[in-house]
Amino acid sequence: MWMLGKFRLYLVWVLLISGHGFAIEFNESNFIIPIPNKRRVTKLIPFPNRTRDTLIYMMTLFLNPLEESLSVIESHPPQKIDWAFIPAASLAPEALTVFKEASRQETSASVFELLKNLLATQPTLNARHLHHSRFPVPENVNQLQSQFSYHSWNREVIEVSSVKGTQRTIYRSPSDLPEISISETHVISDDTVRETELIISREDLSGQFDFFAYDQKGLLTQTSLFHSQNGKKVSAPVPYSCLTCHYDGTRGVFQRNPVFQFLTGRHK
Ligand code: HEC
Repeated sequence: MWMLGKFRLYLVWVLLISGHGFAIEFNESNFIIPIPNKRRVTKLIPFPNRTRDTLIYMMTLFLNPLEESLSVIESHPPQKIDWAFIPAASLAPEALTVFKEASRQETSASVFELLKNLLATQPTLNARHLHHSRFPVPENVNQLQSQFSYHSWNREVIEVSSVKGTQRTIYRSPSDLPEISISETHVISDDTVRETELIISREDLSGQFDFFAYDQKGLLTQTSLFHSQNGKKVSAPVPYSCLTCHYDGTRGVFQRNPVFQFLTGRHK
C-alpha cells in the first residue's frame, strides 16, 4: 500500500508540473523564453529545478541539430525566473512557426504546455536529435536488432514491473557502445513483445539521453502504455512521459534509471 500511495502522489505531481503561465517573446532574431527557477510543489518532490530541467531538455529537442544553440542566462543571486535565448535560425522549421505564433499572442500561453504539445504533435522532432549521430534512430525493431544485436547483451528480467503491470526484460549495452538500455514488455499469455523501449545517451557529452518506444508491430510510436494503480492501461506521450520518471535530480539530466527506486519491480 505504501508503494501505491507514493505512486499516486507522484502522478498528482506530474499533473501539477504542467501549469506554468509564461509567454514566449520574439526579439529581432531571438526567442526569449522564461524559465521558472524555484521549486513549485515542495512537499511532494525533492527536486527544486525539475521544471527548469524539463523545459530546457524539451527546448533542445526543437533545435536544428546542425545549428544547435541554446543559451540560458542564470541570475545571481537566483531570481524567480531565468531566461533562455534561442536564435530563430537554430529552431526546427516545424517548431519555428509555432514559436512565432505563440510570441504574437497577447495572452500569456504556458511555455511548458506549448513545448509539450509541440512534442506530441510533431513525432519526428524527437528522432531528429539523433539523425546526425553515429547511431541514428532505428525506425523499427528489426532495424534496432540488426543495429545493436541487443539480444546478446546482459539482460535482467523483472517479473512484475509496477509501471508496466507485467514482465519486462531489460538489456544494457556493453562498454564499447554508447550507454543504451532496451526494454521489452511481454505479453505472458502468448509470449510476444507488447512494446520495446529504447533509451540512448547523446553524443554531445551533456549527460542527457533520448527516449523512444516501438509498438507491438515493432514500429516507432509516439505513445507508450503504462499500468495504473487500478490495473488499467494508460497511454502516455513519448518522450514527454519518459521524462517524468527517468530523471536524475542531482545532475539535472534525463537518463536510464527511474527517479525513485520504489517504482522499480526490483524491490518486490
Ligand atoms: C511512471 C514511471 C516511468 C515512466 C513514465 C517511464 N519509465 Fe522507464 N522505467 C521505470 C521503472 C520503475 C523502471 C525499472 C524497471 C521496472 O521496474 O519496470 C524503468 C526502466 C526503464 C528501462 C530500462 C532501464 C535500465 O537500464 O534499467 C527503459 C529502457 C525504460 N524504462 C524506458 C522508458 C521509456 C522509453 C519511457 C517513456 C515512453 C519510460 N521508460 C517511462 C519507470 C518509468
